[in-house]
Amino acid sequence: RIVYVNGEYVPEQEAKVSVFDRGFLFADGVYEVTAVLNGKLVDFDGHMRRLHRSLSELQMAMPCDEGELLAIHRAMIEKNALVEGMIYMQITRGAADRDFTFPASATPTLVMFTQTRSIIDSAQAKTGVRVVTVEDLRWGRRDIKTVQLLYPSMAKMIAQGKGADDAWLVQDGMVTEGTSNNTYIVTADGTIVTRDLSHDILPGITRAAVLRCARELQMKVEERAFSVEEALAAREAFSSSATGFVSPVVEIDGKALGDGQPGPVARRLRQVYIEESL
Ligand code: PDD
Repeated sequence: RIVYVNGEYVPEQEAKVSVFDRGFLFADGVYEVTAVLNGKLVDFDGHMRRLHRSLSELQMAMPCDEGELLAIHRAMIEKNALVEGMIYMQITRGAADRDFTFPASATPTLVMFTQTRSIIDSAQAKTGVRVVTVEDLRWGRRDIKTVQLLYPSMAKMIAQGKGADDAWLVQDGMVTEGTSNNTYIVTADGTIVTRDLSHDILPGITRAAVLRCARELQMKVEERAFSVEEALAAREAFSSSATGFVSPVVEIDGKALGDGQPGPVARRLRQVYIEESL
């Protein structure tokens, strides 16, 4: 694989980042994952807007302008002959002597790599995902897409230890989001419910697209918190992310939803969003 590090495209074995990089020492950095379908970037502008916001919340500067980031993304697709999968981009504050205060001047570290992955023909989209609920012990600014992913990683291990595929995180009895996706339920009257945006969850780029598609299809949408009890009683459930697109959830804490198969709302939204991204 060819990766990108600070202005250079190099084979992955040759890529180097400083031991003193604050991303490595303090998780002082942000990232974006953009899906690639048919060699094309999906919702790139949305990812750029969120990147700007994450950086400014942490008083970090863009390492280069948006046009250049787009050019690097395109070059990465080409150099890695990527047809379907994702591009990971990470910007950390850069290398500095280890100190808790932000360094007055540090050059940001910009890294990118690609990953091939079946998005359209995903096994989980066909069978559906089984989730368990796990207490949300992350920090209070989950709206910033930082690289501190230890707790989501631990939650996913807890889920796998219980024989499930993923965890839905819960705070005060209400679902916040998945380990790396936004979460939705469909109530008995067919309303799609997903948590409203705040510091508690990441404003998913796929979430924005899914809600737009749902409204265009005249589906009823409510943005509000929902409880674990409400989720267990839901007609269907699903999650959204750049890499999973729309993923049907068929089981929560061992209880099958509906007939235990991917639901019609999730399947429809998945199909519509994939079609418009192709
Ligand atoms: N994760 N919530 C969390 C906590 C996430 O990590 C993600 C994305 C999402 C969905 O956001 P989007 O639709 O913009 O991908 C919600 C990425 C895919 C990851 O970490 O791999």
